Amino acid sequence: MAKAARFSQQLSGPLRAVAAEAAGCERCPLYRDATQTVFGEGPSDARIMLVGEQPGDKEDLEGRPFVGPAGRLLDQALAEAGLDRQQAYVTNAVKHFKHQPRGKRRIHKRPDRGEIQACHWWLDQELALVRPSLVIALGATAAQALAGRKVVLSRERGLEVEYPGGLRGMSTVHPSSILRVPDAEARHAAFSALVEDLRTAVRPAQEAPRVTPIPMTAASPRGAARTKAKRGTKAA
Ligand code: URA
Repeated sequence: MAKAARFSQQLSGPLRAVAAEAAGCERCPLYRDATQTVFGEGPSDARIMLVGEQPGDKEDLEGRPFVGPAGRLLDQALAEAGLDRQQAYVTNAVKHFKHQPRGKRRIHKRPDRGEIQACHWWLDQELALVRPSLVIALGATAAQALAGRKVVLSRERGLEVEYPGGLRGMSTVHPSSILRVPDAEARHAAFSALVEDLRTAVRPAQEAPRVTPIPMTAASPRGAARTKAKRGTKAA
């Protein structure tokens, strides 16, 4: 049965209408075990869009992206990089929480290719409506969803790329990977590197023209066209 429409009150206009539609999404089986669709949120004219992997436990319960521990770290990194989260549009490649029960806990499971592909339908609509001048992929799953190809983050992070559809993008690590670093000093260094990636990308993107992407869902189911990484070019 389709779940009740619950989505961020921050959304307005066409984005709100798409979010309402996504609330009843059954395009892949993930809706069955999730509490609700977690659609993106933020200003419809945001210059910067941040794309994560999928909602976590807290996001699934609250119905908003990046509101758990990874979200708090992201907010802090954005602030240090000079961007107020309220100015960015924040979303995920997959809009339902994929998990498996372990005792009383729900353990995150990585979405598979089919689930990512099915959810591209919503991501494409967010991209087309927001028309960001820069899309920042947080982690390999988001980068691969946007690029339509395998992405080795250690090679590509911080570099400007062109994603299919003509989008200007950059990838960096997922904030939760930083939370998992056991050593405090290494964790601090990983956080500083994330801030550095964001800082290099964010300032120029705030002045860059917005891009109207060519929707990839219809043209190429996985957005399979190859992307161009401008090697050695920091996103600017
Ligand atoms: N991790 C993600 O990728 N997205 C969220 O919204 C929360 C955690």
